[in-house]
Amino acid sequence: MLSLLAPRACVLVGCIFVSSAEVFGLSDQYPPLWDESPGQFSDYSVENGKYIIDPWVYPKRMGMYKILLNKTASYFEKFAPDNERNILWGLALQHGWQFSSGRLVDPTQTTDCGYESGDRLCISVDSWWADLNYFLCALPFLAAVDAGIMGITSDQVQLVPPPKDQTKFCLSASSCQLSYPSTMRKWDALYKHLQSPSRSFEDLLKYMWEAHVSALDDGYKVFEDRFEYYSKPEADFGKDWSVFVDYIAAANFPTTFSTISAFQKALPPRVLVDGDRAPFISDFTDVQNIVLLGLNLVGESHSGSRTRTVINEGWADHARSYCLNF
Ligand SMILES: *[C@@H]1O[C@H](CO)[C@@H](O)[C@H](O)[C@H]1NC(C)=O
Repeated sequence: MLSLLAPRACVLVGCIFVSSAEVFGLSDQYPPLWDESPGQFSDYSVENGKYIIDPWVYPKRMGMYKILLNKTASYFEKFAPDNERNILWGLALQHGWQFSSGRLVDPTQTTDCGYESGDRLCISVDSWWADLNYFLCALPFLAAVDAGIMGITSDQVQLVPPPKDQTKFCLSASSCQLSYPSTMRKWDALYKHLQSPSRSFEDLLKYMWEAHVSALDDGYKVFEDRFEYYSKPEADFGKDWSVFVDYIAAANFPTTFSTISAFQKALPPRVLVDGDRAPFISDFTDVQNIVLLGLNLVGESHSGSRTRTVINEGWADHARSYCLNF
């Protein structure tokens, strides 16, 4: 399987790089409602001396990334001006794509959460994408607070629980550490390394991807039941995507502002419905069709499930050296 898979994944990663860089150019694209999102803690409400953040409202969740990017900016100055090579951009931009592509809405359609005609900014707890993103937002955010780089202490911030399944979401640094100790340690390791004068861009990426993949492992197990709310093509895409993340993690893909904003133009711009079959989706660009087809093939090689993907070291070496150029 691996021998078959390696060239496929290789072609796919290459395809995404080339297409994103050449077809689209490295244009600047901030996430939707970026300017309207909180950029400092004082933009959130305060209760009993704690900032109250509701991560189930899109601009409020995006604000967590905005503050995280702001507070870590100084550590990335030595790699590029204007925070361009802050590797945490990937998380914020991906969340923006989830919003603009309609992936944060209530997939059961029993509420108007997230819908244009309803509660547009609502993030649905039933959205698989929103739930996985929670692990890639709340955990890195709270770990950063706990690591002391956010300018407040852990007892000064409280996240609001979703309307249901509350026990699946940790709300504070201490409860996340209790529920997901290994992942929280890995985010902490990233922030520790960030503060080290000898930090290198590649090492930071490595720490970030370790924490990222670990958070995905945690979240994936908890929310597999959400797939049943989606069409088969969309559920497959979610599964294939999470397998693919293991590949870009192994490749140490640089999650900077320009690479990710270019890269995600190659991703499906809307939720997939029954009958969508890459590369024949008429309202997708050629690149979006090809990338989706590529993701399907990568996922297929793993029987469409994200048991921890074992990645051929030779492939990873090759991909890492390829990625160095971006
Ligand atoms: C961080 O946010 C503060 C307050 O909004 C702002 O004054 C500052 O310029 C920001 N820093 C960076 C690097 O974006």
